[in-house]
Amino acid sequence: MLLRVVTDQPWDVPADVLIVPIMAAPTFDGELGELDRRASGELRALADFGELTGKRYVTSLASGGETRSGRLLTVCLGDPSRVDRETVVRVAASAERRLAGRTVKRVAFWLTPLADALGGDVVAAAELVTRGMTEGRYDPRTIYRDEVDSVLPLLDELILVASGPEQTGAAGAAERGMIIGEGANIARDLSNRAANDVSPAVLADEARALAEQHGLWIDVIDAERATEMGMGMFMAVGRGSDNPPKMIVMRSGGSKERDALDRHLAIVGKGVCFDSGGISIKPSNRMEEMKMDKTGACTVIAAIATVARLAPGTPLLALAPAVENMPGPHSTRPGDIVTALNGKKVDVINTDAEGRLILGDAMTYAEQLGATHLVDVATLTGAVSRAFGHLVTGAFGSSQPFYDEVMVAADRAGERYWQIPLIDDYVQDMDSWYGDLRNSGSGDGSLVKSGLFLREFTTKPWVHLDIAGTGYYTKSLPFAPRGATGVSHATLVELALAGAKAG
Ligand code: BES
Ligand code: MN
Ligand code: ZN
Repeated sequence: MLLRVVTDQPWDVPADVLIVPIMAAPTFDGELGELDRRASGELRALADFGELTGKRYVTSLASGGETRSGRLLTVCLGDPSRVDRETVVRVAASAERRLAGRTVKRVAFWLTPLADALGGDVVAAAELVTRGMTEGRYDPRTIYRDEVDSVLPLLDELILVASGPEQTGAAGAAERGMIIGEGANIARDLSNRAANDVSPAVLADEARALAEQHGLWIDVIDAERATEMGMGMFMAVGRGSDNPPKMIVMRSGGSKERDALDRHLAIVGKGVCFDSGGISIKPSNRMEEMKMDKTGACTVIAAIATVARLAPGTPLLALAPAVENMPGPHSTRPGDIVTALNGKKVDVINTDAEGRLILGDAMTYAEQLGATHLVDVATLTGAVSRAFGHLVTGAFGSSQPFYDEVMVAADRAGERYWQIPLIDDYVQDMDSWYGDLRNSGSGDGSLVKSGLFLREFTTKPWVHLDIAGTGYYTKSLPFAPRGATGVSHATLVELALAGAKAG
């Protein structure tokens, strides 16, 4: 697909479809009025008909009239004062998805209304729209099938149209948005694949392929080595399956090399290729969703590849502990005491609280490899999705300054997080009689306790992102199909790139 940014009036750009973002209660003055006039009053007619109610992500089609595009596709932004970067990505994705099954080769997207909503930032609009259009064309139905109905059309050309003065940097920004969107789609593809397809070994092979493609260092630690090294929590989960566990470690830049912010950042993702619960087996209702429990791992693997594309050599570590949590004769039993890589003795009360076990050892290992700052991303708890739903990711931080840095990256990425407190008083609810701590606490506050457990395995500034609610959708939305969302990929990429070295 050819990607171009042009400075022109939206009605002067030849295209099959022109996408027109529209605020709530449009007034049809200025450029929108002129566009409507050239489209023979089609936009006003839509408004009079009740199509442009301003409900966010709602789309309508009109004839292009005397404009140079065959059709106009309006997409509603809602209240303009509430349009943020996330809205821009989703507006673009919704518009793209509206074209499913249509015959379209050349799409023009009128950036100006979105740039205006972002305080006149055409460069940001170009990046976020291209990212939204790239993520919007992702369709998981084609992973296992060649033919599905209403596929997204393959575009020859996407033209971003901004009126007003020439914008330096907009073309580069659009390219950057496309690369970040493609990275999110890689994460989504890996997450959506079934557990009989993506075992820990297959995930490691996929990581190896990406490492080779982008010149990353990679080490895959097998069960034997993990046992020798003392990764007792990782092995406690991994040992229950015939598909052996793999600790995937990737690096961009040199060993222990510091980035421009003097960090050796590590991103760590939960890679449970299937979570049956183990001996503490889950109910069968919706258990099929647990193939998505590897989403954190897929996210960090894709994110380090994206960073390598955008700023090769940026110091970054990615760790993806990959396991299958299964019941069987070799499985860990409730009550088993295991020794973590950092020496703590953990009383495994509930084998379904497995994510924290594999992440704990991965984070200790990241610190052994020189990490000075850690972010983990995991489908960790059902509680986070009950609390925040599918549109807000729960986040924790052991150091407020580092948490705030992650949130700066999140804002740039247009992703929504909400901070959950790490209240020390709850730690005692995880006390163990036989060991140092239990992997599941007593009493309420299980969401807070999941973060407190993980904190026991870090000594450096650390942030935990619980994507159990946001990592995948169980129904399609205007801006995304059912399945993995790619959430947090962009945040991790922005966080790492904040430390990219000049040049
Ligand atoms: N993978 C699950 C969390 C999950 C649940 C993700 C629903 C997505 C949707 C995790 O391993 C788990 O089982 N968590 C338990 C923790 C409990 C045993 C302390 C939970 O949330 O119930
Ligand atoms: Mn579980
Ligand atoms: Zn799990």
